[in-house]
Amino acid sequence: MIECPSDGCIGCEACALICPNLAIEMVEIEENKRIKINVDQKSFEVPANITVKEALKISGFQIGKFPEDDLFMPCESGGCWACMIEINGELKRACISKVQDGAKILTKKQKTPYRIITGFMPHTVGGVGTPWWIKGKGYIEVACFAAGCNLRCPQCQNWSTAYLNKGQPLTPQDAAKIMTMLRKRYKVDRIAISGGEPTLNPEWLIEYIKELKKLNPDPQARLHVDTNGTVLTPEYIDELIEAGVTDIGIDIKALNVETYMHITGIKQRDLAEKYKENSFKAAEYILDHHPQVFLGIGIPYNRSLITLEEIEEMAKRILKISKDVQICVLDYRGEFRRRWLLRPSYKEMLKVHEMLRDLGFKNVISQTYLGHIGPDGKPI
Ligand code: FES
Repeated sequence: MIECPSDGCIGCEACALICPNLAIEMVEIEENKRIKINVDQKSFEVPANITVKEALKISGFQIGKFPEDDLFMPCESGGCWACMIEINGELKRACISKVQDGAKILTKKQKTPYRIITGFMPHTVGGVGTPWWIKGKGYIEVACFAAGCNLRCPQCQNWSTAYLNKGQPLTPQDAAKIMTMLRKRYKVDRIAISGGEPTLNPEWLIEYIKELKKLNPDPQARLHVDTNGTVLTPEYIDELIEAGVTDIGIDIKALNVETYMHITGIKQRDLAEKYKENSFKAAEYILDHHPQVFLGIGIPYNRSLITLEEIEEMAKRILKISKDVQICVLDYRGEFRRRWLLRPSYKEMLKVHEMLRDLGFKNVISQTYLGHIGPDGKPI
């Protein structure tokens, strides 16, 4: 069941975003009532019954989709907590909180970041950034999943985590404690975070990694982040690696912007182009500047979403950077709003696999409904 994350409808659209059947239509209502708010000690008048985020925008604050923007609000649905601000002394999410008459709002970053983290579990397969040679050997890592995503993939394979926002927000310290406990319990060396999109709240993620490193100082510990790479910058990558990240998986969803928009559901062309290029650049930067980090690159495959020709061109672009990087071809199946998608057959995945190997990649693995195909073309 879809619950309203706010206190009555304020047009935040979080419910429409999660609805798999697109059954919720947003209707614009003219709001005549005006209220007064105080933001960072300045007074503003804004319409009533809107989100704090909208009120801030109307008041002239710059709200954007990248960490370098004045106010970074990437998921817009209550999951990532990057938009956390102080309202009347309480920490709230600007994107789903109703603006109240007389509210005192402080936009400056708070000391303790929060994030909804769920699905703490051991894993036998891992993700894009898990080295292929350890897959399929019992439990190989423990993982957790960060709520909130900046993409809107209609076939999202993890949509309840990305958009449903169930669960209590945790501090980085609390999440790191749980993961360290899980690591001990399942006797593994790897600690992974995926999503949703884990990079959407940089303060939270960097503090979380630092805390994990503090609690897991042994050299065997591997700290792994799986990401879509869309908001990563060289500085952000440097900070993550300095904090302790050892393994990164980046999903590069397409080469052409039209395909990227189709796969990710991002409707603004310039935003899609920037997201796509950021993910390519992030992979390049890691390979060039942090060769000690294990990097996996995820490529999606489903013939209804992307052609083999585009996969080939995409692979050639990656090949210019490295032929040794791990390439993980992901068989996209029917989920969320594209439940009609047929999962690629083993034969289809093998064909993509062989094409990538013939291009010269040494470490291609392909996810199939029967398990992974390894670099030698045989099941792992
Ligand atoms: S932007 Fe508000 S929670 Fe993600």
